[in-house]
Amino acid sequence: MNVPILAPSLLAANFSHLADAVGQIDASGAEWTHLDVMDGNFVSELTFGAKMVRDLRPLSRTIFDVHLMINHPEHFIEEFARAGADYITFHCEAALHLHRILTSIRDLGKKAGISVVPSTPVGVLEEVLPFADLVLVMTVNPGFGGQSLIPKCLEKVKALKRIREEKGYSYLISVDGGVNADTVSQVRDSGVDVLVAGEAFFKAADKVAIAALLKGVR
Ligand code: DX5
Ligand code: ZN
Repeated sequence: MNVPILAPSLLAANFSHLADAVGQIDASGAEWTHLDVMDGNFVSELTFGAKMVRDLRPLSRTIFDVHLMINHPEHFIEEFARAGADYITFHCEAALHLHRILTSIRDLGKKAGISVVPSTPVGVLEEVLPFADLVLVMTVNPGFGGQSLIPKCLEKVKALKRIREEKGYSYLISVDGGVNADTVSQVRDSGVDVLVAGEAFFKAADKVAIAALLKGVR
Protein backbone atom coordinates (compact mmCIF):
# COMPACT_ATOMS: atom_id res chain seq x y z
CA MET A 1 0.00 0.00 0.00
CA ASN A 2 1.30 3.47 -0.91
CA VAL A 3 2.08 6.04 1.76
CA PRO A 4 -0.74 8.62 1.65
CA ILE A 5 -0.22 12.34 1.22
CA LEU A 6 -0.96 14.26 4.41
CA ALA A 7 -3.00 17.47 4.26
CA PRO A 8 -3.25 19.12 7.69
CA SER A 9 -6.30 21.37 7.90
CA LEU A 10 -5.76 24.97 8.99
CA LEU A 11 -9.30 24.95 10.41
CA ALA A 12 -7.88 23.45 13.60
CA ALA A 13 -5.09 26.04 13.89
CA ASN A 14 -5.25 29.23 15.91
CA PHE A 15 -6.43 31.79 13.34
CA SER A 16 -4.41 34.53 15.04
CA HIS A 17 -1.22 32.57 14.26
CA LEU A 18 -1.83 31.18 10.79
CA ALA A 19 1.64 32.00 9.51
CA ASP A 20 3.08 29.86 12.32
CA ALA A 21 0.61 27.09 11.52
CA VAL A 22 1.65 27.05 7.88
CA GLY A 23 5.27 26.85 9.02
CA GLN A 24 4.45 23.90 11.28
CA ILE A 25 2.83 22.05 8.38
CA ASP A 26 5.87 22.69 6.18
CA ALA A 27 8.28 21.46 8.85
CA SER A 28 6.24 18.34 9.68
CA GLY A 29 6.83 16.53 6.41
CA ALA A 30 3.22 16.97 5.25
CA GLU A 31 3.00 17.60 1.52
CA TRP A 32 -0.27 19.54 1.33
CA THR A 33 -2.09 22.24 3.30
CA HIS A 34 -5.89 21.90 3.47
CA LEU A 35 -7.81 25.19 3.54
CA ASP A 36 -11.49 24.99 4.52
CA VAL A 37 -13.64 27.76 3.09
CA MET A 38 -17.10 27.99 4.72
CA ASP A 39 -19.84 30.43 3.77
CA GLY A 40 -22.34 30.28 6.66
CA ASN A 41 -24.87 28.97 4.13
CA PHE A 42 -23.84 25.59 2.70
CA VAL A 43 -22.52 24.99 6.21
CA SER A 44 -23.36 27.04 9.28
CA GLU A 45 -19.86 28.33 10.02
CA LEU A 46 -17.83 31.05 8.30
CA THR A 47 -14.09 30.86 7.85
CA PHE A 48 -12.17 32.85 5.23
CA GLY A 49 -12.01 33.73 1.57
CA ALA A 50 -9.47 33.97 -1.22
CA LYS A 51 -7.47 36.78 0.41
CA MET A 52 -6.35 34.37 3.11
CA VAL A 53 -5.14 31.92 0.48
CA ARG A 54 -3.25 34.70 -1.32
CA ASP A 55 -1.61 35.99 1.87
CA LEU A 56 -0.54 32.52 3.08
CA ARG A 57 0.62 31.24 -0.31
CA PRO A 58 4.15 32.71 -0.23
CA LEU A 59 4.75 31.33 3.28
CA SER A 60 4.45 27.67 2.31
CA ARG A 61 6.16 25.18 0.03
CA THR A 62 3.18 22.79 0.21
CA ILE A 63 0.38 22.16 -2.29
CA PHE A 64 -2.64 24.31 -1.37
CA ASP A 65 -5.74 22.11 -1.23
CA VAL A 66 -8.74 24.45 -1.06
CA HIS A 67 -11.99 22.83 0.09
CA LEU A 68 -14.96 25.03 -0.78
CA MET A 69 -17.94 24.40 1.50
CA ILE A 70 -19.94 27.14 -0.17
CA ASN A 71 -23.04 27.51 -2.29
CA HIS A 72 -22.56 28.74 -5.87
CA PRO A 73 -18.92 27.67 -5.97
CA GLU A 74 -18.79 28.65 -9.67
CA HIS A 75 -18.78 32.32 -8.64
CA PHE A 76 -15.55 31.96 -6.68
CA ILE A 77 -13.39 29.54 -8.68
CA GLU A 78 -11.42 32.19 -10.55
CA GLU A 79 -10.72 34.18 -7.39
CA PHE A 80 -9.29 31.14 -5.60
CA ALA A 81 -7.29 30.14 -8.65
CA ARG A 82 -5.71 33.60 -8.85
CA ALA A 83 -5.03 33.50 -5.11
CA GLY A 84 -2.74 30.49 -5.55
CA ALA A 85 -4.87 27.43 -4.86
CA ASP A 86 -3.44 24.28 -6.44
CA TYR A 87 -6.45 22.02 -5.94
CA ILE A 88 -9.93 23.55 -5.86
CA THR A 89 -12.60 21.19 -4.53
CA PHE A 90 -16.31 22.00 -4.42
CA HIS A 91 -19.34 20.05 -3.24
CA CYS A 92 -21.60 18.31 -5.74
CA GLU A 93 -24.49 19.09 -3.35
CA ALA A 94 -23.85 22.82 -3.77
CA ALA A 95 -23.88 22.99 -7.55
CA LEU A 96 -25.77 21.74 -10.59
CA HIS A 97 -23.41 21.98 -13.53
CA LEU A 98 -20.65 19.79 -12.16
CA HIS A 99 -18.94 19.16 -15.48
CA ARG A 100 -18.80 22.85 -16.29
CA ILE A 101 -17.26 23.74 -12.94
CA LEU A 102 -14.69 20.93 -13.06
CA THR A 103 -13.56 21.91 -16.54
CA SER A 104 -13.48 25.60 -15.64
CA ILE A 105 -11.07 24.79 -12.79
CA ARG A 106 -8.85 22.84 -15.18
CA ASP A 107 -9.04 25.64 -17.74
CA LEU A 108 -7.57 27.94 -15.11
CA GLY A 109 -4.59 25.58 -14.85
CA LYS A 110 -5.65 24.11 -11.51
CA LYS A 111 -6.51 20.62 -10.31
CA ALA A 112 -10.26 20.06 -10.06
CA GLY A 113 -11.78 18.35 -7.03
CA ILE A 114 -15.32 17.30 -6.21
CA SER A 115 -16.63 16.32 -2.79
CA VAL A 116 -19.51 14.27 -1.36
CA VAL A 117 -21.05 14.64 2.10
CA PRO A 118 -21.81 11.42 4.03
CA SER A 119 -25.40 11.14 2.73
CA THR A 120 -24.44 11.45 -0.95
CA PRO A 121 -23.63 8.23 -2.80
CA VAL A 122 -20.67 8.20 -5.19
CA GLY A 123 -23.03 7.14 -8.00
CA VAL A 124 -24.06 10.77 -8.52
CA LEU A 125 -20.49 11.48 -9.66
CA GLU A 126 -20.46 8.79 -12.33
CA GLU A 127 -20.75 11.12 -15.33
CA VAL A 128 -18.10 13.58 -14.13
CA LEU A 129 -15.39 11.33 -12.69
CA PRO A 130 -13.35 11.50 -15.94
CA PHE A 131 -13.07 15.28 -15.40
CA ALA A 132 -11.93 15.17 -11.77
CA ASP A 133 -8.38 15.27 -10.44
CA LEU A 134 -9.53 14.66 -6.85
CA VAL A 135 -12.56 13.17 -5.15
CA LEU A 136 -12.91 14.22 -1.53
CA VAL A 137 -14.95 11.81 0.56
CA MET A 138 -16.30 13.55 3.66
CA THR A 139 -16.26 11.16 6.61
CA VAL A 140 -18.11 13.66 8.83
CA ASN A 141 -20.88 16.09 8.01
CA PRO A 142 -19.00 19.22 6.92
CA GLY A 143 -18.91 22.35 9.01
CA PHE A 144 -16.76 21.63 12.04
CA GLY A 145 -13.49 20.06 13.04
CA GLY A 146 -13.11 17.49 15.77
CA GLN A 147 -16.07 15.26 14.87
CA SER A 148 -16.09 11.44 14.88
CA LEU A 149 -15.38 9.61 11.65
CA ILE A 150 -18.34 7.74 10.13
CA PRO A 151 -16.76 4.39 9.13
CA LYS A 152 -19.47 3.58 6.56
CA CYS A 153 -18.20 6.43 4.38
CA LEU A 154 -14.97 4.50 3.81
CA GLU A 155 -16.94 2.10 1.59
CA LYS A 156 -17.07 5.03 -0.85
CA VAL A 157 -13.29 5.16 -0.96
CA LYS A 158 -13.19 1.50 -1.92
CA ALA A 159 -15.89 2.03 -4.57
CA LEU A 160 -14.04 5.02 -6.05
CA LYS A 161 -10.84 3.02 -6.17
CA ARG A 162 -12.60 0.16 -7.96
CA ILE A 163 -14.18 2.54 -10.50
CA ARG A 164 -10.83 4.24 -11.09
CA GLU A 165 -9.20 0.91 -11.85
CA GLU A 166 -12.03 -0.34 -14.04
CA LYS A 167 -12.32 2.83 -16.13
CA GLY A 168 -8.70 3.93 -16.14
CA TYR A 169 -9.44 7.27 -14.42
CA SER A 170 -6.74 9.21 -12.62
CA TYR A 171 -8.32 11.14 -9.72
CA LEU A 172 -6.84 11.04 -6.26
CA ILE A 173 -9.12 9.98 -3.42
CA SER A 174 -9.08 12.08 -0.26
CA VAL A 175 -10.72 11.52 3.12
CA ASP A 176 -11.74 14.44 5.33
CA GLY A 177 -13.13 14.35 8.86
CA GLY A 178 -12.29 12.48 12.04
CA VAL A 179 -8.92 11.17 10.89
CA ASN A 180 -6.78 10.65 14.00
CA ALA A 181 -4.45 8.15 15.65
CA ASP A 182 -7.36 5.84 16.48
CA THR A 183 -9.04 5.84 13.06
CA VAL A 184 -6.18 6.29 10.63
CA SER A 185 -5.33 2.65 10.07
CA GLN A 186 -8.85 1.83 8.82
CA VAL A 187 -8.71 4.95 6.64
CA ARG A 188 -5.36 3.93 5.17
CA ASP A 189 -6.62 0.36 4.67
CA SER A 190 -9.47 1.70 2.53
CA GLY A 191 -6.85 2.71 -0.02
CA VAL A 192 -7.03 6.49 0.32
CA ASP A 193 -4.45 8.72 -1.42
CA VAL A 194 -4.80 11.89 0.68
CA LEU A 195 -5.50 12.18 4.40
CA VAL A 196 -6.92 15.45 5.73
CA ALA A 197 -6.38 15.93 9.45
CA GLY A 198 -7.30 18.97 11.53
CA GLU A 199 -7.42 18.44 15.27
CA ALA A 200 -5.24 15.32 15.20
CA PHE A 201 -2.43 17.40 13.70
CA PHE A 202 -2.79 20.70 15.52
CA LYS A 203 -3.45 19.23 18.97
CA ALA A 204 -0.31 17.09 18.74
CA ALA A 205 2.74 18.57 20.45
CA ASP A 206 5.19 16.89 18.08
CA LYS A 207 4.13 17.67 14.50
CA VAL A 208 6.83 15.53 12.87
CA ALA A 209 5.76 12.52 14.96
CA ILE A 210 2.04 12.92 14.28
CA ALA A 211 2.68 13.38 10.55
CA ALA A 212 4.70 10.15 10.45
CA LEU A 213 2.08 8.31 12.53
CA LEU A 214 -0.81 9.40 10.29
CA LYS A 215 1.10 8.52 7.14
CA GLY A 216 1.99 5.15 8.68
CA VAL A 217 5.73 5.55 8.25
CA ARG A 218 6.67 4.82 11.83
C1 DX5 B 1 -14.83 19.87 8.18
C2 DX5 B 1 -13.63 20.22 7.34
C3 DX5 B 1 -12.42 19.45 7.69
C4 DX5 B 1 -11.94 19.63 9.11
C5 DX5 B 1 -11.51 18.27 9.58
O1 DX5 B 1 -15.99 20.33 7.62
O2 DX5 B 1 -13.87 20.02 5.96
O3 DX5 B 1 -11.35 19.67 6.79
O4 DX5 B 1 -10.89 20.54 9.26
O5 DX5 B 1 -11.25 18.35 10.92
P1 DX5 B 1 -10.87 17.09 11.82
O6 DX5 B 1 -9.70 16.42 11.18
O7 DX5 B 1 -10.57 17.69 13.14
O8 DX5 B 1 -12.08 16.18 11.82
ZN1 ZN C 1 -12.05 20.09 4.63
